[in-house]
Amino acid sequence: MSFGLSRGKTLDTEGYGFDRSDLPDYEDGPFDPRSWFADSSRPFELEIGSGKGTFLVQQASLQPDTNFLGIEWAAEFYRYAADRLRRNQCNNVRMLHDDAVQFVTHRMPDACCRIVHLYFSDPWPKARHHKRRVVQDASLEQLHRILATEGLLHLVTDHMDLWAWYESHVERSAHLFERLPFTPPSSAAEGEVVGTNFERKYRREGRPFNAMTLRRLP
Ligand SMILES: C[S@@+](CC[C@H](N)C(=O)[O-])C[C@H]1O[C@@H](n2cnc3c(N)ncnc32)[C@H](O)[C@@H]1O
Repeated sequence: MSFGLSRGKTLDTEGYGFDRSDLPDYEDGPFDPRSWFADSSRPFELEIGSGKGTFLVQQASLQPDTNFLGIEWAAEFYRYAADRLRRNQCNNVRMLHDDAVQFVTHRMPDACCRIVHLYFSDPWPKARHHKRRVVQDASLEQLHRILATEGLLHLVTDHMDLWAWYESHVERSAHLFERLPFTPPSSAAEGEVVGTNFERKYRREGRPFNAMTLRRLP
């Protein structure tokens, strides 16, 4: 499916976008995406499902001393976001074209990440597709593993059934995470929860948004 995001322009991901062919073989074990940054010792944050990259473009310029990775599996959105980061010279952000759950589970090292952002994740409303939702018991265990001590997982959704799914999974993961109220990132405009492209589009329809933060327990 084409979303027509490029509007006929060639999108240039050079230096900002990576895909599976840029990764070492799976048999080589974990891969640390912090190695993609000039200073890999800086704090590191991950966004799962970056869409057009709006959150990353906005937040990265307010946190120039933090490295950000956005993972996006839709090729067109990945290319659009990486090109947009390049045009905006967001040197502290990289995009990866991959399934974030697979990458987190099979590649990312323990305790490498300060914050994981998951904003308006696809709700997969049909019961037979629920297994495709990013949040699962197993993925929460993996997100706990990659988060540093007291690391945070931010969850925002407009979808009531997905919100109920989050609440039940979080309840079952009470040994892994403490639930906290959500605080909007500094890049959110007045009245916004987080200020992503999706939020701005659907706020006009008056959709309600729900948000929570989970703090990693030891
Ligand atoms: C509804 S969009 C929201 C995009 C953006 N976060 C926003 O709020 O504007 C969800 C995005 O997550 C991506 N996505 C869903 N599951 C993913 C996964 N497992 N790994 C990487 N990206 C994923 C989709 O391709 C889509 O671009």
